[in-house]
Amino acid sequence: MDKPSENLAILGLQWGDEGKGKVIDLFSASFKNVVRFQGGNNAGHTVVVNGKSIALHQVPSGALHSECFLVIGSGVVLNLEVFHQELERLRMRGIEVLDRLLISSNAHLILPYYIALDNWRENYSDRIGTTGRGIGPAYEMKASRQGIRIGDLDTPKALSRISNVYKEVQLIVGKDTTLLSPEDVLQNLNSLITPLKKCIGNTQVYLHEAWQRQESILFEGAQATMLDIDHGTYPFVTSSNCSIGGLFTGTGLPPKVLDKVLGIAKAYTTRVGAGPFPSELDDSIGEQIRQIGHEFGTTTGRPRRCGWLDTVALRHSCNVSGVDGLGIMKLDVLDGLNPIGIVKDYKTKEGNRITSIPSTAYDWENIEPITEYYEGWSTPTKGITNWNDLPVQAQRYINAIAKETGVPIAYISTGPDRGDGFVPPESWLQGWLK
Ligand code: GDP
Ligand code: IMO
Ligand code: MG
Repeated sequence: MDKPSENLAILGLQWGDEGKGKVIDLFSASFKNVVRFQGGNNAGHTVVVNGKSIALHQVPSGALHSECFLVIGSGVVLNLEVFHQELERLRMRGIEVLDRLLISSNAHLILPYYIALDNWRENYSDRIGTTGRGIGPAYEMKASRQGIRIGDLDTPKALSRISNVYKEVQLIVGKDTTLLSPEDVLQNLNSLITPLKKCIGNTQVYLHEAWQRQESILFEGAQATMLDIDHGTYPFVTSSNCSIGGLFTGTGLPPKVLDKVLGIAKAYTTRVGAGPFPSELDDSIGEQIRQIGHEFGTTTGRPRRCGWLDTVALRHSCNVSGVDGLGIMKLDVLDGLNPIGIVKDYKTKEGNRITSIPSTAYDWENIEPITEYYEGWSTPTKGITNWNDLPVQAQRYINAIAKETGVPIAYISTGPDRGDGFVPPESWLQGWLK
């Protein structure tokens, strides 16, 4: 199939780690441009090719396709030191991206001060369970207009801007936390930015022109709707808009650039960090899912909390982003479990059924899941590449997800490798796979 002229967004629908990296890598082969538009190195997107795995944190997941042009939009917050480590890891795999990469000069830098502030907050206030990468403070400084954009490093005022941030952070973390001097921070940033200079520019103009030239664009979401600062389980969220709105603000492109939205969900649910998780299984089944699914964070190595698929959360996420199709991941992890639960709705402690997500953290504490159980399957789904080869119980399970969400299934994943999974025959994604 020729490259599609249509543009696609791939977004997480749960609490992150749904398998976005795998799907983005898979579909990147059909796209000219792959774009990150929000988040930073809190993201960990794993791509597995022929059993070899690579974790990408800030480099777009189209990196493994040498013909893909990679864009980091202005909505991303970038840690340059980690970025270099990532480039080095790719280089060791024979993958060079600097000749096909454009980073927005308006993207904000993650300063070491932000990491200190992030960790200070985690110790001195209610824990969110952040990744400790300074993401929250980076977006805070952006919103308070104290942040340092990549382009600022070129200006004579760079040092005074960094000094302002230093003073603010020092006021909060106090003298006990040793902070690098603004001079040292600037010097480090300047040496880190030098090899990237030719990759820095105006991504808004580049993307607009690429769109006008009808070059296909794949937009790569990081994190997921339930971690979205506006539409997630606030305050247990990240600090960017991970649902559809963040794509437009983080690139400077208008909504009509998008043709389709593919929402990614695991066949069950996981969450790292604190916060509401109504379908959580704090028992041996949850542990079984964690072990079989290798549910340990790509970025921090923390064990992920595991539970049944929550279709209340999925419906919410699909509505927020106008999802056209679902990619259901890690079906194989449920092999051998019997029965398998799906959370259909919630009920309040008073027994009232509710069909949409609550608002405040307090409201979340006062609901319980309503779970329906489906018969499991005994023949493995691992590596299956065809709908008809799925056990009938797995087909029923998948069909129930489509029914509960009202969104068709566009892709089914049955293992971590590129080849594990398939686009069902009637899916609109048919023909998009090279
Ligand atoms: P992302 O952050 O959404 O890109 O997801 P992560 O990479 O953090 O976590 C997903 C994990 O599941 C990775 O280790 C993937 O290699 C793995 N994975 C993806 N799809 C499948 C699948 O269908 N089956 C299994 N068993 N593993 C998968
Ligand atoms: P990907 O892109 C899973 C979670 C953290 C924490 C909360 C806030 O791999 O799906 P932050 O460091 O962003 O301030 O932490 O958000 N979190 C993620 N959980 N996958 C991610 O990214 C995440 N990025 C942040 O665990 O609960
Ligand atoms: Mg991840």
